[in-house]
Amino acid sequence: MNHPDQEKQVVAGNDGARLGPIRKLMAKDMKAFYSHYKDGLRSGVFAIDQVAAYLLRSRGKGLRPMLTLLCVRACGANGNLTERSLSAALVVEMLHTASLVHDDVVDRADERRGRKTLNLVYNNKVAVLFGDFMLSRALAGMFAQRRFEVLDLFSDCAFRLSRGELVEAIGSRKLDLDKPKYFTMVSDKTASLISAACQMAPLSLDKDEFRDPLRKYGELLGIAFQIRDDLLDLGDGGPRIGKPLGLDMSQAKLTLPLIHTLEQLKQTDKRRVLAKLRKAKRYSKKGQIIDLKDILDLIHSTGGISYARGVAADYASKAVLALEPLPQSIYLDNLKLFAHYAAERNR
Ligand code: IPE
Ligand code: IPE
Ligand code: MG
Ligand code: MG
Repeated sequence: MNHPDQEKQVVAGNDGARLGPIRKLMAKDMKAFYSHYKDGLRSGVFAIDQVAAYLLRSRGKGLRPMLTLLCVRACGANGNLTERSLSAALVVEMLHTASLVHDDVVDRADERRGRKTLNLVYNNKVAVLFGDFMLSRALAGMFAQRRFEVLDLFSDCAFRLSRGELVEAIGSRKLDLDKPKYFTMVSDKTASLISAACQMAPLSLDKDEFRDPLRKYGELLGIAFQIRDDLLDLGDGGPRIGKPLGLDMSQAKLTLPLIHTLEQLKQTDKRRVLAKLRKAKRYSKKGQIIDLKDILDLIHSTGGISYARGVAADYASKAVLALEPLPQSIYLDNLKLFAHYAAERNR
């Protein structure tokens, strides 16, 4: 029988009509992946395995390992997946989940993947250390690839991911993020890992000729994915996203819809909005919530939501174009579908 959280995950997987067929196509490969992943999280210490079991009860959407394996198939791999390809997907999901566990400490988030976050169930200390433990497992998986290119890829990816998270954290103090800074920040914090997920496929198969198009595809797709994440936080995908709504504004994070709106305001209005965001951030640190509906309404009325939707769709279309050098296959078709899903998803 399925665990209730696995049921929840199936429901999540059906959003945005486009993911259903991709999940179906990749179901067997993802089953192999999750068994490998579960083994990879074993620590040899019961108390740590219990923390891992808590995380595993709600796996998230599994999009990055699915992308790696979809790219593996699109690069022409037939039959059972090799140990190297499975462990490539493992590295990506370990790094991703570790970054989320750390991100929830940084963002003081209390819900993730429809469950309480580790920082809430345990505390910040356990969450930070468990994130580090996952990073150590990811490092072992990278080494198992026996290729310097893989170490090079992930050292750059970890550099960019932490740079992006830092720029965002510092930006929310100064409130000075403009569009160029925003795009660099999201390509660092989100697209770097999504691009690495795609590049790990040719690397694990020693088919390096496909690496550059998949790198570009992943970078463009990753930006679309994060813009959609900004929109979901503002309620654009409905109330059930499995993590808190409105967290970005209450912590004075400048997301694309908000930046677009701020750009159009007169100086006095802009100052008023920024002052309210600063106040919301101060209150949120004390666990209090300020009603920001007026700013949300302003974002809608100044076209911030529709602008961000349009930009996400443009990045998705560009991602599809980057796939041009890959051979025609059903996997390639599904990579194209995936790009549009990233820009339109509701979870
Ligand atoms: C969340 O990623 C973090 C972002 C980069 C926006 P996902 O939405 O893929 O998270 P899970 O793995 O499904 O929980
Ligand atoms: C994305 O940041 C997480 C990382 C890239 C580490 P966010 O803070 O925007 O993501 P969510 O909304 O918490 O998933
Ligand atoms: Mg967060
Ligand atoms: Mg964050």
